[in-house]
Amino acid sequence: IKKIGVLTGGGDAPGLNAVIRAVVKSAIRQYGLEVVGFINGFSGIIHKDYRELTEANVSGILPRGGTILGTTNRDNPFRYAVEINGEKTFQDVSDQAIENLKDLGIDALAIIGGDGSLAIAYEFYKKGIPVVGIPKTIDNDLSATDVTFGFDTALTTASEAIDKLHTTAESHHRVMILEVMGRYAGWIALHAGIAGGADVILLPEKPFTIERICAKIQERSNMGKKFSIVVVAEGAKLESGEMVVQRMVHESHDPVRLGGIGNRIGEDIERCTGMETRVTVLGHLQRGGSPTAYDRILGTRFGVKAVELLVDGKYGHMVALKGAEVQEVTLDSAISQLKQVDPHGELVRAAEAVGVSFG
Ligand code: F6P
Repeated sequence: IKKIGVLTGGGDAPGLNAVIRAVVKSAIRQYGLEVVGFINGFSGIIHKDYRELTEANVSGILPRGGTILGTTNRDNPFRYAVEINGEKTFQDVSDQAIENLKDLGIDALAIIGGDGSLAIAYEFYKKGIPVVGIPKTIDNDLSATDVTFGFDTALTTASEAIDKLHTTAESHHRVMILEVMGRYAGWIALHAGIAGGADVILLPEKPFTIERICAKIQERSNMGKKFSIVVVAEGAKLESGEMVVQRMVHESHDPVRLGGIGNRIGEDIERCTGMETRVTVLGHLQRGGSPTAYDRILGTRFGVKAVELLVDGKYGHMVALKGAEVQEVTLDSAISQLKQVDPHGELVRAAEAVGVSFG
């Protein structure tokens, strides 16, 4: 191969630029390849929107958050939204995208993305395009890799927020609720909750009741601790099965936020404990900013390995951290399963052993 393309798809995560830099540098230095960066994910292939990437282009981007290539949740070439006579419909424009790759002389693609983008990568691979995937999500919920880059930075932001909430909670004798990201998996809530010394942690994997949360807060109050910290993942569920927060994901992968679980349980907790309660929704602060050293290193290792796989012709694979090593796994195994917290696992038990309630 002589020329490779790289793109970032789906929601951003701290460390994307570290991956892009590693792909570009290692491709040029180790193998003398040319590199093209597609702008705004798959949209860049569909619209032939790209730029040549040289070492000079990626200079200084290692500590920068976001992605220099831009990204979007939209523009799936296999289900491309178009408007015909005022009506939205979906078309398969993948053949056109493949033609564009040929026109540009792209021999292989490195696709950096979460489950959605990696599923598209797999579709391209099935149509004969040499593809390698690089897993990204702050949620850390991709099963084929022990860790995704972006998670450590999100977790650090969330645990720093808990530290800050602690001092004001203690001064005002309040219950502080921190809502963190994690639609389907509670990794950020669990790790940040443990790191920040939360009293209650609510996860999608462990349904909760308001009564048990209030009992924990009451127990602390009886012991003289007149404040409490509750960390709640946005996808946490009530034991009754009642949907606390409805979140639709449209076919275009466009998530719509219809409410916040933090605010919803805040009112209930204030009512049942009689304690003043405040809610903080951390939101996209978890996705922004400079990546931690860990995420820069993991991103660099992933980028270097992805180029190695492309050069070795190991297409249809994804790079993954397994124990201490970066290895390859097949793309189809990577996209098939969500990695969730084991509600009876060692991490949850360790938290319980130091007094955390899971509601
Ligand atoms: O999957 C990453 C993630 O940050 C989730 O934790 C969160 O629910 C979602 O993306 C937010 O998506 P958007 O930025 O499109 O609102």
